[in-house]
Amino acid sequence: MILYSLEKIRADKSIAETKVIFLTANDFSRYEDVSKRLGVLDFISKPMYGPETLERIRKAFAKEDANTKETILVIDDDRMNLKLAEHMLKSSYNVVMAISYKEVLDFLSKELPSLVLLDVHMPEMNGFELLAEIRKLKDCDDLPVIFLTADSDRETEVRVFREGALDYIQKPFVQEVLLERIKRILSLRKLQTSLEREVERQTAELEESRRKHEILSLQVVKTLASAIDAKDRYTNGHSSRVAQYSKEIALRAGKSIEYQDEIYFVGLLHDIGKIGIPDHILNKNSRLSDEEYEIIKQHPSIGVEILKNITEMPNIVIGAHYHHERFDGKGYPEGLSGKDIPEIARIIAVADAYDAMTSRRSYRSALPHDVVREELAKGKNLQFDPDFADVMIKMIDEDVRYEMRDDGASQDP
Ligand SMILES: [Fe+2]
Repeated sequence: MILYSLEKIRADKSIAETKVIFLTANDFSRYEDVSKRLGVLDFISKPMYGPETLERIRKAFAKEDANTKETILVIDDDRMNLKLAEHMLKSSYNVVMAISYKEVLDFLSKELPSLVLLDVHMPEMNGFELLAEIRKLKDCDDLPVIFLTADSDRETEVRVFREGALDYIQKPFVQEVLLERIKRILSLRKLQTSLEREVERQTAELEESRRKHEILSLQVVKTLASAIDAKDRYTNGHSSRVAQYSKEIALRAGKSIEYQDEIYFVGLLHDIGKIGIPDHILNKNSRLSDEEYEIIKQHPSIGVEILKNITEMPNIVIGAHYHHERFDGKGYPEGLSGKDIPEIARIIAVADAYDAMTSRRSYRSALPHDVVREELAKGKNLQFDPDFADVMIKMIDEDVRYEMRDDGASQDP
């Protein structure tokens, strides 16, 4: 129960870092592993005795401090300076000293310090050159560095910052200045890291939620497309096939990924107006009368009415509205011609015709592929935009195994 409560504390960001010591009258040894995982500092047995308990708490915190002390790498060619720096810093930090480039490499290959104090003047390689080498090491491009220098000229001061150090400290060291500057840099660093983590976390959350919404939108649209297709028993799956062919035409025509994704949506909904056409007309077993054909011709306008509130992707309405226009101007509902017909609708028109011809109809079976190819070729500049008709023809030519129609409606070559 108590461990369960601690789990809850650790999960709550506002109190997750709280230090915890368990008080118990029982043997807690069997909980040691899980306590370690949950960051329990110590167990204190009850009944408690004041001074002894206080001492135990003090020790637990001291041990925790030693474990969490940050490491500072001090690099200087002068052993006296190293010793002095160690002396000034060791009560607050773990201090690692390096006197040569080799020692620096050795240490940095094993561990990353929280901060580097780097002497400017060194015989083997000066501080600026050494920093350039450190930056090339794995995960060291961002390591916080403070230069140590006895120089007080402006040129050194400017160079220190230009070379990517966060600060510089004048020698000889004054302990308070050294500690304060280090403390300031480390706390800024922590703040920066936690801000970066927070931004990363929130970005990931947003991305996940965006992805979920995208999937949901696609699922809703696909469901709607199935509802449209379910009305017409001879062309089941028509909307999703038109969406797929249109996307492929767009890809081959060199359109962007965004355009391809968009035309897929547009294809799924292009015939949504059929929802408003009576079933007995859509599923009629014989050729349509003129009157019935006029009713069918209303589906683009009905589609516009249904889709008009989708303002985020205007092409959805455009696709539904103009996919029965013809390149020669003899289409419907507006009789637009040539490039006046929106491009997305010209692509859908080609995909739509291919699927219609390769679908079995109430009054005819699916047309063989060579006939479909010929119809598309004949329809260039008449029914179809010649460029997109050519793309579709190329798709047919490449589809030697007749796999484009996944339901096998057009097995005949
Ligand atoms: Fe249509």
